[in-house]
Amino acid sequence: MQTYLELLNEAKAILQRNTMTVTVNGKLYERIIPSRDFYVHQWLWDSAGIAMGQVHIDEEAAFHELLSLIAGQWNNGLIPHIIYNPGETRYYPPADQWQTTRFTRDGIKTSGITDPPLLAIAAANLCDHASDEQKKRDFIITLLPSMMAYHDHLKRYRDPEDCGLLTIVHPWESGTDDSPRWDSVLNRIDLNNIPTDLKANVDLNRKDIRYQNSEERPTEADYYRYIYLIELFKDLAWDYTKILHETPFAVKDILFNSIWARANEALAALLHTYGNQEEANTYQRWAEQTQKALTNTWSEEDQQYCDIDVTQGRHQAIVAPTNAIFMPLYAGAVTDAQLDILLQRLSNTDEFCSAYPVPSTAIHSRYFDKERYWRGPTWPITNFFIIEGLKRYTARHKNADQLANFFMQKTVQMIKENGFWEYFDPLDDATEPHAKGMGFSSFSWTAAILIQLLNKLYYN
Ligand code: GLC
Repeated sequence: MQTYLELLNEAKAILQRNTMTVTVNGKLYERIIPSRDFYVHQWLWDSAGIAMGQVHIDEEAAFHELLSLIAGQWNNGLIPHIIYNPGETRYYPPADQWQTTRFTRDGIKTSGITDPPLLAIAAANLCDHASDEQKKRDFIITLLPSMMAYHDHLKRYRDPEDCGLLTIVHPWESGTDDSPRWDSVLNRIDLNNIPTDLKANVDLNRKDIRYQNSEERPTEADYYRYIYLIELFKDLAWDYTKILHETPFAVKDILFNSIWARANEALAALLHTYGNQEEANTYQRWAEQTQKALTNTWSEEDQQYCDIDVTQGRHQAIVAPTNAIFMPLYAGAVTDAQLDILLQRLSNTDEFCSAYPVPSTAIHSRYFDKERYWRGPTWPITNFFIIEGLKRYTARHKNADQLANFFMQKTVQMIKENGFWEYFDPLDDATEPHAKGMGFSSFSWTAAILIQLLNKLYYN
């Protein structure tokens, strides 16, 4: 039986193996990729999550991770969800498909959409855990203008109506690609209207299902629509005023916005210590505005927070029992009455308290598919947010603390028994005594989250 120390060492080794040093235009970048098998570039929210684990092992490397990430920032402030490493061909879509190089600096190639905005949260977390005061200060001072430009960009282009909730325009921006939350919106994109050559191109070039069981990945129809959206945005020259107007996918995502609220709190706290108080007040105000707006997405009838479909003038609540409904805990947006219900749903063995909790979709629901990506499997990253979210409420409800500890133990156990997989079967089937690991193995944020959890559980 592996000890916790051995497990920790394995996690460190994975992060080391997944570190890539690349040179673009004579400049050297060091970054950790999600997996050597497929995700061979840098992803925004993976990278932020990885840095939060890495800081416990190697502070310098954690700083590098985030500095390497902001190197991909566009001149208009956007931080794209993928920063491509040159010469890598294992991932689809390839860098050139996006045609975004004119917006970036130093010839760095990136995607054109963003990811859940975890950057400022990670930066603040690094500050909490790094020990060298001077290096910490230098790091934050370097990072602050980029973080502010990113937040200002998001506020300007994704919340032009100033309602407190940002709009995402692609399922990939949610980080939960094929979640049932997106079905009703995506289904309006008629597959018959997607050009045949685009579909042929996807069929020919899509790579994840060459390496993986297709039952565990998004469907063919999902992929046609993902790429269709990219082509549309490219035709609109990545002008986000036009994109918001024309996209057939525009959603106020509760997961994305919960991270947005907490990221604004984090940025405000950093500015309070290292910057300007007036600017800190602006981001704090944005955080509070988003918290209030999230609270108001609650549906009494459905007992959950709801994403809002705002495509082309709509304003329609999306009701789907996924683990995103717990994200407002992370944002600090939960009333006492809502907290009671969330804790009940999290403890319910027919819903979210499966053998290996927390499943991405409630196990009793008609959408549940224990193997397919964000439609059932348990993901360490969302567990981490739920655990951190519950910890915000321990003073308000004793069950919050108990559940947070239970999910920490279970997440560690799931990884210890099965390995560092991308996601896991949430059920404990009679034929399979342990949660089954799925997707790609030696996965970086699984390793990084394990490091954080072990630190919280055993080394603090
Ligand atoms: C998948 C996941 C996304 C993640 C990316 C890289 O697209 O859905 O959340 O960021 O892989 O790991």
